[in-house]
Amino acid sequence: MEKVRTAVVGCGMISNIYIKNLKNLFSIIELAAVGDINRAAAEEKARTYGIERVMTIDEIAASPDIELVINLTPAFVHYSVIRRMLEAGKHVWTEKVMTVTVEEARDLCALADKKGLCLGAAPDTVLGAGLQTARRALDTDMIGTVTSGLAVIDRDQCLNSEVFTFLKGSGGTLPYDVGIYYIGALLSLLGPVQSVKAFGAPAPVHEPRFLFHGADQKPWQIPGSNVISASLRFQCGALASVLFDGNTVNVSQHALTLFGTRGVLRIGDPDTFGGVNTLLYPDQAPCVLPFTHGYDGRNTVEPTPYDHYGHRGVGAAEMAYAIRQGRPNRCGKEYGLHCLEVLEGMERSAATGETVELNTRFTMAPLAPGYYSSFLGGMRADAEGSLVNG
Ligand SMILES: NC(=O)c1ccc[n+]([C@@H]2O[C@H](COP(=O)([O-])OP(=O)(O)OC[C@H]3O[C@@H](n4cnc5c(N)ncnc54)[C@H](O)[C@@H]3O)[C@@H](O)[C@H]2O)c1
Repeated sequence: MEKVRTAVVGCGMISNIYIKNLKNLFSIIELAAVGDINRAAAEEKARTYGIERVMTIDEIAASPDIELVINLTPAFVHYSVIRRMLEAGKHVWTEKVMTVTVEEARDLCALADKKGLCLGAAPDTVLGAGLQTARRALDTDMIGTVTSGLAVIDRDQCLNSEVFTFLKGSGGTLPYDVGIYYIGALLSLLGPVQSVKAFGAPAPVHEPRFLFHGADQKPWQIPGSNVISASLRFQCGALASVLFDGNTVNVSQHALTLFGTRGVLRIGDPDTFGGVNTLLYPDQAPCVLPFTHGYDGRNTVEPTPYDHYGHRGVGAAEMAYAIRQGRPNRCGKEYGLHCLEVLEGMERSAATGETVELNTRFTMAPLAPGYYSSFLGGMRADAEGSLVNG
Protein backbone atom coordinates (compact mmCIF):
# COMPACT_ATOMS: atom_id res chain seq x y z
CA MET A 1 0.00 0.00 0.00
CA GLU A 2 1.31 3.46 -0.89
CA LYS A 3 2.24 5.46 2.19
CA VAL A 4 0.08 8.46 3.10
CA ARG A 5 2.21 11.61 3.12
CA THR A 6 1.38 13.42 6.32
CA ALA A 7 2.03 16.75 8.05
CA VAL A 8 1.58 17.47 11.76
CA VAL A 9 0.16 20.92 12.57
CA GLY A 10 0.69 22.03 16.18
CA CYS A 11 4.03 21.10 17.74
CA GLY A 12 3.30 21.34 21.46
CA MET A 13 3.33 18.77 24.24
CA ILE A 14 1.22 16.00 22.72
CA SER A 15 3.05 16.19 19.39
CA ASN A 16 6.01 14.40 21.04
CA ILE A 17 4.23 11.08 21.38
CA TYR A 18 2.35 11.50 18.09
CA ILE A 19 5.53 12.15 16.12
CA LYS A 20 7.38 9.30 17.82
CA ASN A 21 4.54 6.84 17.12
CA LEU A 22 3.88 8.07 13.56
CA LYS A 23 7.55 7.62 12.74
CA ASN A 24 8.05 4.25 14.43
CA LEU A 25 4.81 2.28 14.60
CA PHE A 26 2.70 2.88 11.52
CA SER A 27 4.22 1.90 8.20
CA ILE A 28 1.24 3.41 6.30
CA ILE A 29 2.32 6.95 7.36
CA GLU A 30 5.16 8.96 5.91
CA LEU A 31 5.66 11.93 8.22
CA ALA A 32 6.87 14.49 5.71
CA ALA A 33 6.55 17.82 7.52
CA VAL A 34 5.69 19.66 10.71
CA GLY A 35 4.23 23.14 11.14
CA ASP A 36 3.23 25.47 13.94
CA ILE A 37 2.12 29.08 14.22
CA ASN A 38 5.25 29.35 16.35
CA ARG A 39 7.96 28.32 13.86
CA ALA A 40 10.54 27.74 16.60
CA ALA A 41 8.31 25.02 18.12
CA ALA A 42 8.11 23.22 14.77
CA GLU A 43 11.86 23.58 14.21
CA GLU A 44 12.56 22.07 17.61
CA LYS A 45 10.38 18.98 16.88
CA ALA A 46 11.92 18.58 13.42
CA ARG A 47 15.39 18.62 14.98
CA THR A 48 14.50 16.28 17.84
CA TYR A 49 12.71 13.67 15.73
CA GLY A 50 14.56 14.03 12.43
CA ILE A 51 11.77 15.37 10.24
CA GLU A 52 12.83 16.73 6.88
CA ARG A 53 10.62 19.78 6.42
CA VAL A 54 9.32 22.63 8.60
CA MET A 55 6.50 24.40 6.80
CA THR A 56 4.16 27.28 7.49
CA ILE A 57 0.45 26.50 7.71
CA ASP A 58 0.00 28.16 4.29
CA GLU A 59 2.75 26.01 2.78
CA ILE A 60 1.19 22.81 4.15
CA ALA A 61 -2.22 23.80 2.73
CA ALA A 62 -0.67 24.60 -0.66
CA SER A 63 1.61 21.55 -0.82
CA PRO A 64 0.25 19.06 -3.40
CA ASP A 65 2.14 16.09 -1.93
CA ILE A 66 0.67 16.34 1.61
CA GLU A 67 -2.49 14.19 1.71
CA LEU A 68 -3.20 14.03 5.45
CA VAL A 69 -2.93 16.71 8.13
CA ILE A 70 -2.83 15.75 11.80
CA ASN A 71 -4.15 18.66 13.84
CA LEU A 72 -2.61 18.94 17.32
CA THR A 73 -3.52 22.54 18.10
CA PRO A 74 -5.63 23.64 21.12
CA ALA A 75 -9.37 22.89 20.89
CA PHE A 76 -10.44 26.50 20.37
CA VAL A 77 -8.44 26.78 17.13
CA HIS A 78 -9.47 23.37 15.74
CA TYR A 79 -12.30 24.74 13.60
CA SER A 80 -10.15 27.22 11.69
CA VAL A 81 -7.25 24.80 11.15
CA ILE A 82 -9.49 21.89 10.05
CA ARG A 83 -11.58 24.08 7.74
CA ARG A 84 -8.47 25.51 6.13
CA MET A 85 -7.02 22.06 5.46
CA LEU A 86 -10.28 20.53 4.18
CA GLU A 87 -10.70 23.49 1.83
CA ALA A 88 -7.17 22.79 0.59
CA GLY A 89 -8.20 19.17 -0.20
CA LYS A 90 -6.42 17.45 2.72
CA HIS A 91 -7.77 14.59 4.80
CA VAL A 92 -7.70 15.66 8.47
CA TRP A 93 -7.22 13.79 11.74
CA THR A 94 -7.78 16.00 14.79
CA GLU A 95 -7.09 15.73 18.49
CA LYS A 96 -10.12 16.10 20.74
CA VAL A 97 -12.53 17.80 20.83
CA MET A 98 -13.25 18.08 17.10
CA THR A 99 -14.36 21.69 17.67
CA VAL A 100 -15.83 23.51 20.65
CA THR A 101 -19.40 23.67 19.27
CA VAL A 102 -21.67 21.18 17.51
CA GLU A 103 -22.53 23.84 14.93
CA GLU A 104 -18.88 24.15 13.88
CA ALA A 105 -18.42 20.38 13.82
CA ARG A 106 -21.51 19.92 11.62
CA ASP A 107 -20.11 22.50 9.23
CA LEU A 108 -16.80 20.61 8.99
CA CYS A 109 -18.56 17.25 8.49
CA ALA A 110 -20.61 18.74 5.64
CA LEU A 111 -17.46 20.21 4.07
CA ALA A 112 -15.60 16.87 4.31
CA ASP A 113 -18.58 15.11 2.66
CA LYS A 114 -18.77 17.72 -0.08
CA LYS A 115 -15.06 17.38 -0.84
CA GLY A 116 -15.01 13.56 -0.47
CA LEU A 117 -12.36 13.78 2.27
CA CYS A 118 -11.80 11.77 5.43
CA LEU A 119 -12.13 13.57 8.75
CA GLY A 120 -11.34 11.70 11.95
CA ALA A 121 -11.29 12.69 15.61
CA ALA A 122 -9.78 11.59 18.91
CA PRO A 123 -10.18 10.08 21.43
CA ASP A 124 -8.46 7.13 19.74
CA THR A 125 -7.92 5.41 23.09
CA VAL A 126 -11.12 3.55 22.07
CA LEU A 127 -8.91 1.62 19.60
CA GLY A 128 -6.49 0.62 22.38
CA ALA A 129 -6.18 -2.88 23.86
CA GLY A 130 -8.16 -1.97 27.00
CA LEU A 131 -11.33 -0.69 25.35
CA GLN A 132 -11.19 -3.12 22.39
CA THR A 133 -10.99 -6.00 24.90
CA ALA A 134 -13.98 -4.54 26.77
CA ARG A 135 -15.84 -4.29 23.46
CA ARG A 136 -15.03 -7.92 22.70
CA ALA A 137 -16.35 -8.95 26.12
CA LEU A 138 -19.67 -7.27 25.28
CA ASP A 139 -19.80 -8.55 21.70
CA THR A 140 -19.21 -12.12 22.89
CA ASP A 141 -22.01 -11.75 25.46
CA MET A 142 -19.84 -12.08 28.58
CA ILE A 143 -22.13 -9.87 30.70
CA GLY A 144 -25.44 -10.34 28.84
CA THR A 145 -27.44 -7.25 27.89
CA VAL A 146 -26.02 -4.01 29.31
CA THR A 147 -28.68 -2.37 31.45
CA SER A 148 -26.66 0.54 32.86
CA GLY A 149 -23.26 2.15 33.26
CA LEU A 150 -21.29 4.50 35.50
CA ALA A 151 -18.56 6.97 34.50
CA VAL A 152 -16.68 9.16 37.00
CA ILE A 153 -13.57 11.37 36.81
CA ASP A 154 -12.21 14.11 39.09
CA ARG A 155 -9.49 16.72 38.61
CA ASP A 156 -8.41 20.18 39.77
CA GLN A 157 -8.92 21.58 36.29
CA CYS A 158 -8.22 25.18 37.36
CA LEU A 159 -4.85 24.27 38.83
CA ASN A 160 -4.11 22.17 35.75
CA SER A 161 -4.88 25.14 33.51
CA GLU A 162 -1.85 26.90 35.03
CA VAL A 163 0.34 24.24 33.42
CA PHE A 164 -1.70 23.40 30.29
CA THR A 165 -2.58 27.02 29.52
CA PHE A 166 -4.87 26.16 26.56
CA LEU A 167 -7.33 24.87 29.19
CA LYS A 168 -8.10 28.47 30.16
CA GLY A 169 -10.15 28.87 26.94
CA SER A 170 -13.23 27.24 25.36
CA GLY A 171 -13.07 23.46 25.53
CA GLY A 172 -10.96 23.63 28.71
CA THR A 173 -13.52 22.36 31.25
CA LEU A 174 -13.07 18.87 32.66
CA PRO A 175 -16.04 17.42 30.69
CA TYR A 176 -14.60 18.63 27.34
CA ASP A 177 -10.93 18.02 28.14
CA VAL A 178 -11.05 14.67 29.98
CA GLY A 179 -14.72 13.66 30.24
CA ILE A 180 -14.63 13.11 26.48
CA TYR A 181 -12.47 9.98 27.04
CA TYR A 182 -15.30 8.53 29.15
CA ILE A 183 -17.97 9.61 26.66
CA GLY A 184 -15.92 8.21 23.76
CA ALA A 185 -15.47 4.92 25.65
CA LEU A 186 -19.18 4.60 26.43
CA LEU A 187 -20.05 5.38 22.79
CA SER A 188 -17.57 2.82 21.47
CA LEU A 189 -19.11 0.18 23.75
CA LEU A 190 -22.82 1.05 23.72
CA GLY A 191 -23.37 3.04 20.51
CA PRO A 192 -25.19 6.37 20.13
CA VAL A 193 -26.95 8.28 22.93
CA GLN A 194 -30.66 9.05 22.54
CA SER A 195 -31.15 11.67 25.27
CA VAL A 196 -29.32 13.57 28.00
CA LYS A 197 -30.40 15.17 31.28
CA ALA A 198 -27.84 17.04 33.40
CA PHE A 199 -27.00 19.46 36.19
CA GLY A 200 -23.85 21.58 36.03
CA ALA A 201 -21.71 24.01 38.00
CA PRO A 202 -19.14 26.53 36.69
CA ALA A 203 -15.44 26.62 37.47
CA PRO A 204 -14.53 29.19 40.15
CA VAL A 205 -12.54 32.29 39.27
CA HIS A 206 -9.02 30.93 39.68
CA GLU A 207 -6.29 32.79 41.55
CA PRO A 208 -2.94 31.49 40.22
CA ARG A 209 -1.09 29.41 42.82
CA PHE A 210 2.16 28.45 41.09
CA LEU A 211 4.44 31.42 41.74
CA PHE A 212 7.05 30.05 39.34
CA HIS A 213 4.77 31.03 36.45
CA GLY A 214 5.09 34.68 37.51
CA ALA A 215 3.30 36.31 40.44
CA ASP A 216 1.72 39.00 38.25
CA GLN A 217 -0.81 36.73 36.46
CA LYS A 218 -4.45 37.90 36.58
CA PRO A 219 -7.18 35.48 37.81
CA TRP A 220 -9.24 33.64 35.14
CA GLN A 221 -12.37 31.51 34.88
CA ILE A 222 -12.55 28.50 32.53
CA PRO A 223 -15.77 29.02 30.52
CA GLY A 224 -18.55 26.41 30.78
CA SER A 225 -19.63 23.78 33.34
CA ASN A 226 -16.64 22.31 35.15
CA VAL A 227 -18.82 19.93 37.15
CA ILE A 228 -21.45 17.86 35.36
CA SER A 229 -23.78 15.29 36.83
CA ALA A 230 -25.74 13.67 34.01
CA SER A 231 -27.95 10.78 32.98
CA LEU A 232 -27.63 9.35 29.49
CA ARG A 233 -30.15 7.12 27.75
CA PHE A 234 -28.50 5.13 24.97
CA GLN A 235 -30.33 4.06 21.84
CA CYS A 236 -29.65 0.43 22.82
CA GLY A 237 -31.76 0.98 25.96
CA ALA A 238 -28.92 1.19 28.53
CA LEU A 239 -28.89 4.08 31.03
CA ALA A 240 -25.67 5.65 32.32
CA SER A 241 -24.80 7.96 35.22
CA VAL A 242 -21.95 10.36 34.55
CA LEU A 243 -20.07 12.53 37.06
CA PHE A 244 -17.25 14.79 35.87
CA ASP A 245 -15.92 17.03 38.69
CA GLY A 246 -13.21 19.50 37.68
CA ASN A 247 -13.60 21.59 40.86
CA THR A 248 -11.95 19.07 43.19
CA VAL A 249 -8.41 17.65 43.46
CA ASN A 250 -6.16 15.58 41.18
CA VAL A 251 -6.56 12.15 42.74
CA SER A 252 -8.14 10.47 39.67
CA GLN A 253 -10.83 8.39 41.33
CA HIS A 254 -11.97 7.26 37.95
CA ALA A 255 -14.72 4.71 37.45
CA LEU A 256 -16.08 3.16 34.29
CA THR A 257 -18.39 0.23 34.93
CA LEU A 258 -21.03 -1.53 32.85
CA PHE A 259 -23.77 -3.55 34.52
CA GLY A 260 -25.33 -6.39 32.52
CA THR A 261 -28.07 -8.99 32.93
CA ARG A 262 -25.46 -11.72 33.60
CA GLY A 263 -22.37 -9.93 34.88
CA VAL A 264 -20.54 -6.66 35.53
CA LEU A 265 -17.52 -5.30 33.65
CA ARG A 266 -15.19 -2.91 35.45
CA ILE A 267 -13.26 -1.09 32.73
CA GLY A 268 -9.79 0.44 33.09
CA ASP A 269 -8.88 4.12 32.66
CA PRO A 270 -10.24 5.18 29.23
CA ASP A 271 -7.67 8.00 29.08
CA THR A 272 -5.08 5.26 28.49
CA PHE A 273 -4.66 2.51 25.90
CA GLY A 274 -4.07 -0.33 28.34
CA GLY A 275 -6.80 0.02 30.99
CA VAL A 276 -7.33 -3.31 32.76
CA ASN A 277 -10.81 -4.85 32.54
CA THR A 278 -12.22 -6.96 35.35
CA LEU A 279 -15.17 -9.32 34.96
CA LEU A 280 -17.46 -9.84 37.94
CA TYR A 281 -19.89 -12.74 38.29
CA PRO A 282 -21.91 -13.62 41.42
CA ASP A 283 -20.05 -15.71 44.01
CA GLN A 284 -16.82 -15.85 42.01
CA ALA A 285 -13.47 -14.12 42.39
CA PRO A 286 -13.05 -11.06 40.11
CA CYS A 287 -11.37 -12.06 36.85
CA VAL A 288 -8.92 -9.80 34.99
CA LEU A 289 -9.39 -10.22 31.25
CA PRO A 290 -6.23 -10.63 29.18
CA PHE A 291 -6.01 -8.24 26.24
CA THR A 292 -7.47 -9.63 23.03
CA HIS A 293 -6.03 -6.74 20.97
CA GLY A 294 -2.84 -4.80 20.34
CA TYR A 295 -2.03 -1.17 21.17
CA ASP A 296 -1.86 -1.59 24.94
CA GLY A 297 0.03 1.69 25.37
CA ARG A 298 3.37 0.09 26.30
CA ASN A 299 6.40 1.51 24.58
CA THR A 300 8.33 -0.90 22.35
CA VAL A 301 10.94 1.52 21.01
CA GLU A 302 13.53 3.83 22.62
CA PRO A 303 12.07 5.29 25.88
CA THR A 304 11.13 9.00 26.10
CA PRO A 305 9.47 11.06 28.88
CA TYR A 306 6.21 11.07 26.86
CA ASP A 307 5.66 7.30 26.70
CA HIS A 308 2.84 7.35 29.29
CA TYR A 309 0.69 8.94 26.55
CA GLY A 310 0.67 5.49 24.96
CA HIS A 311 -0.32 4.69 21.41
CA ARG A 312 -1.78 8.07 20.44
CA GLY A 313 -1.86 8.27 16.65
CA VAL A 314 -3.45 4.85 16.17
CA GLY A 315 -6.70 6.53 15.07
CA ALA A 316 -4.84 8.56 12.44
CA ALA A 317 -3.04 5.44 11.19
CA GLU A 318 -6.31 3.47 11.00
CA MET A 319 -7.71 6.40 9.02
CA ALA A 320 -4.72 6.33 6.66
CA TYR A 321 -5.48 2.67 5.88
CA ALA A 322 -9.17 3.58 5.40
CA ILE A 323 -8.16 6.30 2.90
CA ARG A 324 -6.13 3.81 0.85
CA GLN A 325 -8.87 1.18 1.06
CA GLY A 326 -11.76 3.56 0.28
CA ARG A 327 -13.68 2.59 3.43
CA PRO A 328 -14.95 4.57 6.44
CA ASN A 329 -12.51 5.05 9.32
CA ARG A 330 -13.44 3.90 12.82
CA CYS A 331 -12.92 7.14 14.79
CA GLY A 332 -14.76 8.96 12.02
CA LYS A 333 -16.30 12.39 11.85
CA GLU A 334 -19.72 11.09 12.91
CA TYR A 335 -18.17 9.66 16.10
CA GLY A 336 -16.35 12.96 16.78
CA LEU A 337 -19.55 14.91 16.16
CA HIS A 338 -21.61 12.63 18.42
CA CYS A 339 -19.05 12.93 21.27
CA LEU A 340 -19.45 16.68 21.00
CA GLU A 341 -23.25 16.51 20.78
CA VAL A 342 -23.31 14.54 24.06
CA LEU A 343 -21.04 17.12 25.77
CA GLU A 344 -23.02 20.06 24.42
CA GLY A 345 -26.28 18.25 25.27
CA MET A 346 -25.15 18.06 28.90
CA GLU A 347 -24.34 21.78 28.90
CA ARG A 348 -27.71 22.64 27.34
CA SER A 349 -29.66 20.43 29.72
CA ALA A 350 -27.80 21.90 32.71
CA ALA A 351 -28.61 25.43 31.50
CA THR A 352 -32.29 24.86 30.62
CA GLY A 353 -33.32 22.02 32.95
CA GLU A 354 -34.72 20.17 29.93
CA THR A 355 -34.01 16.70 28.62
CA VAL A 356 -32.03 17.12 25.39
CA GLU A 357 -32.70 14.74 22.50
CA LEU A 358 -29.65 14.05 20.31
CA ASN A 359 -29.90 13.95 16.53
CA THR A 360 -26.57 12.64 15.26
CA ARG A 361 -25.67 8.95 14.92
CA PHE A 362 -22.50 6.95 14.23
CA THR A 363 -21.26 3.37 13.98
CA MET A 364 -17.84 1.99 14.97
CA ALA A 365 -16.80 -1.51 13.94
CA PRO A 366 -14.50 -3.28 16.43
CA LEU A 367 -10.92 -4.04 15.43
CA ALA A 368 -10.08 -7.66 14.65
CA PRO A 369 -8.82 -9.54 17.76
CA GLY A 370 -5.75 -11.74 18.00
CA TYR A 371 -3.04 -9.12 17.47
CA TYR A 372 -0.45 -7.99 20.00
CA SER A 373 1.64 -4.89 20.67
CA SER A 374 4.71 -6.78 21.78
CA PHE A 375 6.15 -10.30 21.92
CA LEU A 376 9.24 -12.10 23.20
CA GLY A 377 9.40 -9.84 26.27
CA GLY A 378 8.88 -6.42 24.69
CA MET A 379 9.70 -6.53 20.97
CA ARG A 380 7.31 -4.78 18.59
CA ALA A 381 4.66 -7.24 17.37
CA ASP A 382 1.90 -7.37 14.75
CA ALA A 383 -0.73 -4.93 16.12
CA GLU A 384 -0.65 -2.85 12.93
CA GLY A 385 -2.28 -5.80 11.13
CA SER A 386 -5.49 -5.10 13.07
CA LEU A 387 -5.78 -1.63 11.48
CA VAL A 388 -5.73 -2.84 7.91
CA ASN A 389 -9.21 -4.28 7.55
CA GLY A 390 -12.51 -2.47 7.75
N1 LIG B 1 -1.53 17.77 26.78
C1 LIG B 1 -2.15 16.61 26.91
O1 LIG B 1 -2.00 15.87 27.91
C2 LIG B 1 -3.06 16.14 25.81
C3 LIG B 1 -3.41 14.81 25.78
C4 LIG B 1 -4.22 14.37 24.77
C5 LIG B 1 -4.70 15.26 23.84
N2 LIG B 1 -4.37 16.56 23.89
C6 LIG B 1 -4.93 17.45 22.86
O2 LIG B 1 -3.90 17.79 21.92
C7 LIG B 1 -4.06 19.14 21.48
C8 LIG B 1 -2.80 19.91 21.77
O3 LIG B 1 -2.46 19.77 23.12
P1 LIG B 1 -0.99 20.14 23.65
O4 LIG B 1 -0.95 19.73 25.07
O5 LIG B 1 0.04 19.64 22.72
O6 LIG B 1 -1.05 21.74 23.56
P2 LIG B 1 0.19 22.76 23.49
O7 LIG B 1 -0.35 24.08 23.91
O8 LIG B 1 1.37 22.20 24.18
O9 LIG B 1 0.54 22.81 21.91
C9 LIG B 1 -0.29 23.35 20.96
C10 LIG B 1 0.55 23.88 19.82
O10 LIG B 1 -0.33 24.37 18.80
C11 LIG B 1 0.24 25.58 18.27
N3 LIG B 1 -0.81 26.37 17.65
C12 LIG B 1 -1.75 27.14 18.26
N4 LIG B 1 -2.55 27.72 17.35
C13 LIG B 1 -2.12 27.30 16.14
C14 LIG B 1 -2.55 27.57 14.81
N5 LIG B 1 -3.59 28.35 14.55
N6 LIG B 1 -1.87 26.98 13.79
C15 LIG B 1 -0.80 26.18 14.04
N7 LIG B 1 -0.35 25.91 15.29
C16 LIG B 1 -1.01 26.45 16.32
C17 LIG B 1 0.91 26.24 19.46
O11 LIG B 1 1.89 27.17 19.06
C18 LIG B 1 1.47 25.04 20.20
O12 LIG B 1 2.80 24.75 19.81
C19 LIG B 1 -5.31 19.68 22.18
O13 LIG B 1 -6.42 19.49 21.35
C20 LIG B 1 -5.45 18.78 23.40
O14 LIG B 1 -6.80 18.64 23.83
C21 LIG B 1 -3.52 17.02 24.83
